[in-house]
Parts: sequence; C-alpha cells; structure tokens
Amino acid sequence: MPRHVILDMDPGYDDAIALCLALAAEELEVIAVTATGGNVEPEQASRNVQALVEHFDPKRWPRIGAASPEQILRTNARHLHGDDGLCGAGLQVAELANRHRSVKVLSDEIRKAPGDITIVATGPLSNIADMLRYEPDLAGMIGHLIIRGGTLAAPGNVTAAAEFNIYCDSEAARQVFNSPITKTVIPIDVTGEVILGFDFLERLKSRDSRTAVLLERILPGAYRAARQHLGLEGILVHDVVALVAAMRPALFTMQRMYGDVETAGELTHGETVFERRAVTAEQPNMDVAVQMDAAAVEAAIVESLDAA
Ligand code: BDR
Ligand code: CA
Repeated sequence: MPRHVILDMDPGYDDAIALCLALAAEELEVIAVTATGGNVEPEQASRNVQALVEHFDPKRWPRIGAASPEQILRTNARHLHGDDGLCGAGLQVAELANRHRSVKVLSDEIRKAPGDITIVATGPLSNIADMLRYEPDLAGMIGHLIIRGGTLAAPGNVTAAAEFNIYCDSEAARQVFNSPITKTVIPIDVTGEVILGFDFLERLKSRDSRTAVLLERILPGAYRAARQHLGLEGILVHDVVALVAAMRPALFTMQRMYGDVETAGELTHGETVFERRAVTAEQPNMDVAVQMDAAAVEAAIVESLDAA
C-alpha cells in the first residue's frame, strides 16, 4: 500500500522537482500539497503550488492549501529560485479564490486518518507550528513528520551556522522540534551530497513527458543561479533528497538524537543543536539522517523522473 503523504512546501525549484517525483511515485499517494512562504513570499508560494499541480494534472488530484499572507519570515531565497520561485518559468495559474489555508487542510486530513499521514516538510515549519498552537492534540495523530532542514556538522547555507528552512522561522522550528510528533530530520549534511549536473538537464530535454517539459522550463534558471551564486556546475536538490527519504527510507542511516533550535543567538540564530554527548539527561526526540547511499538516491531521482 502506498504511503499517504502531505507535502508542505515553499516552491522553490527543488520543491517543484520533489512534487513531480511524489506525484509519480508508486510508493506514495499525495493526499494534499500545502504551501508555506520561504523561498518566496507566502502568496507566491501558494500560486506556485497551485500552478505546479495544475500543470501536472495528476490522475488523483491532491487537496491544495494556501499559505497565510500573515506569515513572517526572516529572509527569502529569490537569488537561487528567481522572483517567482520557479526561476522565471512563467506558469499560468487560475485565480486563488476561496482556497483553504494550509493549516486547515493539514488539520482536516490528519483528523480524517489519525496515525496514517506522513508530512514531508520542505520549507519553513510555520504551518506545522501554527497547527499545533491551535490544535495541540494533532501532534499525536500525525503518523510521521519528515523535516528537510537543519545541519548536523555541516556549515549553514544562509548564515555560517544556520540552514535556510530553520532560519526563516526558527521559533516555529523550535516548537516543532520540541513537540511529541514522531519525526525525522534530514539535514543538509546529507541532502547536500547530491548535485545534479548538466547531464540531468540534457536528459530531460530528450523526453517529452509533462514532467520533463515543465522542469525544462524551470531548471535552466536554477543552473544559472547555482553557478552565479554558489559556484556550482550543477544544482542542489535538498528537497528531492528528503522526498526520497519518504519513498525509500532504506537508503538512509538514521540515528536517534535530541535536537533543538537556537532562537536567541546573535551569530547562531536558527542553528540546529544536536546532543551527541555520551552521557546526558536529554531523551532523544527525533531520528536524524546521518548517512545515505548518495549514488542510489541520485539514481532513484533520475529513474523516478524518467518514469514520471
Ligand atoms: C532549502 O532552502 C530552499 O532554498 C530550498 O527549497 C530548500 O528547501 C535549502 O536549505
Ligand atoms: Ca523548499
């Protein structure tokens, strides 16, 4: 039976690839896609979620949730994802009239199937934190939360200490880390191991599937930005790696740990702090991906997109 997932995302080119993969994967059934601001403002993220789902037009449409326009975020990543979040792809989208908020969609679906839903969060954790603030009992009804964020030993990617998704709304991240939800963190130490080179883009160009056509519109701008801002001859696909962790968990090595988020530091704001002392009073509160089979994860990404 496929794993029932809700994708909570801030598209973002790598969120967009993750969505393609999820909608095509036999291992997953996408129940809903809920938008959060992050890479771009909440309104744009909501538009992107809707545009992407409309464009894929999957056999079974997921519910869609819109981010709250009141969401407060510390920064954005438009330099890597473009002002529209999709690297200037110019996707048309129907007007967002009467869309349910992401928090409502999450809450409805979790209540409908207690213990069954895995949330894959590939943006800031504001929606999950808001949901818990209004309805704390939902923490025990979420089957599993996969958090794409934080660093274990690697440097940050937005400041020297902090990873983008956690930094954007560190208070929300802290609340979620300290909640009783069953959760797994996939830090950039592992997600940063996969870089898709230009051959990936060439491969897409040789295909004419709906997914390939869409990604061909989005990704050239992502490659240009990665070269200009990160000096990379390829693109980082953090969120796609997290999606593979939901599809094929056996490719990852997990370790039980106690993790928290720094919300007061001047230089370390948004840093994730993991307890690794041998003797400690802290009880582990999450699994953390400490290793993965990077070649197999990359192969899974390429193969799944080929099949999409
Ligand atoms: C994360 O930040 C965003 O730019 C990506 O979409 C990813 O979710 C990387 O830290
Ligand atoms: Ca993201």
